[in-house]
Parts: sequence; structure tokens; C-alpha cells
Amino acid sequence: MDLSDIAALYRHRQSCRAFDEREVPEALIKSICELALLAPSACNAQPWKLIALFGETRARAVKCVQELGMNRFASDAGALVAVCSAGGNFTAKLGSRLKDTDFTANDLGILTAHLVLAADAAGLGSCILGWRNEKKLRALLGLDEKTRIPVVVALGYAREDCPIRPKKRKPYDETYRALH
Ligand SMILES: Cc1cc2nc3c(=O)[nH]c(=O)nc-3n(C[C@H](O)[C@H](O)[C@H](O)COP(=O)(O)O)c2cc1C
Repeated sequence: MDLSDIAALYRHRQSCRAFDEREVPEALIKSICELALLAPSACNAQPWKLIALFGETRARAVKCVQELGMNRFASDAGALVAVCSAGGNFTAKLGSRLKDTDFTANDLGILTAHLVLAADAAGLGSCILGWRNEKKLRALLGLDEKTRIPVVVALGYAREDCPIRPKKRKPYDETYRALH
């Protein structure tokens, strides 16, 4: 594997908003989650838990990401994965306080990035969903009110008539600079 393989993966991953009816094997979702959980985290605190949702729970969770008519396509996603905060460790919490930075939020973002890239490599489409009713999701998943669920990831097989879109990104001269 070299950079061009990784570059192809990064360019291929896109938010999928059209899933087909093929069933997503639970074992595949588990493998993707296990890979994502190799992500780095502040002080290696791993302040997270991934909860994969299938069947009836998936159907109920879908409603939590569709308020005001948003994310209708999520109904067709074979699986949802809730990205949740959990645990953490003393050094990371102390570091967050001393450095005035929410490292858990950062760690969950990195975890999510790993998840969607692993999904793409496994042949699945994905869409990160930040539009969610966190309170209802917490209740559905039996989580306490301290648990954050910043995003839910919809996963499934992309419809074959959905091409890879050109990336819409700011010009790199606005988003990257080098200082010497
Ligand atoms: C934190 C976060 C929340 C998002 N929430 C939603 C969402 O609720 N619904 C949706 O359709 N897309 C959502 N997206 C997907 C973004 O719109 C998408 O990543 C962005 O437009 C870039 O497109 P691409 O993923 O196809 O490269 C979210 C992405 C992130 C990172």
C-alpha cells in the first residue's frame, strides 16, 4: 500500500444519500467499527463507544435523525452507528481542562473519520449525520444524560446509479499555508 492507494480512498469517500436495498452484514459493520476503534485519541483515553443499530432499533433511531423532514435517505441505510462518548481517563480530562480544549469532541471526530473511510474501503456508502435528536437517541439506547452522541453514521450499499461527485472544497490557498 502506498499514498496513491490512500489518496484513492480519500477521493472516493463521499456522503452517500442514496442507499439500495441490499442487506448490510452485521459482521461487516463490526469489522469496520473495530478498525475505526484503532483511531488515535488524547492520552489514548479512547473516550468513546460505537453502538451499531440494526432491525427495529435502527428503525426507531432513524426517526431521531429525521426531524423537520431532514435526512429522509437514512430510512434506506442498512445500519446506523451511533458515535458516543464514554469513559475517558484522568490525564485526558486534566489535559482538556488545562489546555481549555474539548479533546473528547476531537477524539470522536477522528473516530468518525476512521469509520467512514473504513466503510468506503469495505465497499459501503456512509453519511455522517449531525442533525439528530440527541436526547431521544440517548433514551432509545439506554444511555445516561452525560453521554454525548455528536453524530450518527448511516451505512449501506450506495445505489449503483450514484456516481462519485467532484469534491467541493475551498481552494487550498485558503485552507493550507506553510510557514518557515
Ligand atoms: C459533523 C457532521 C455532520 C453532518 N451532518 C449531516 C446531516 O445531518 N445530513 C447530511 O445529509 N449530511 C451531513 N453531513 C455531511 C456533510 O454535509 C458532508 O460531509 C459535506 O457536505 C462534504 O461532502 P462529502 O462528505 O460528500 O465530501 C455531516 C458531516 C459532518 C462532518
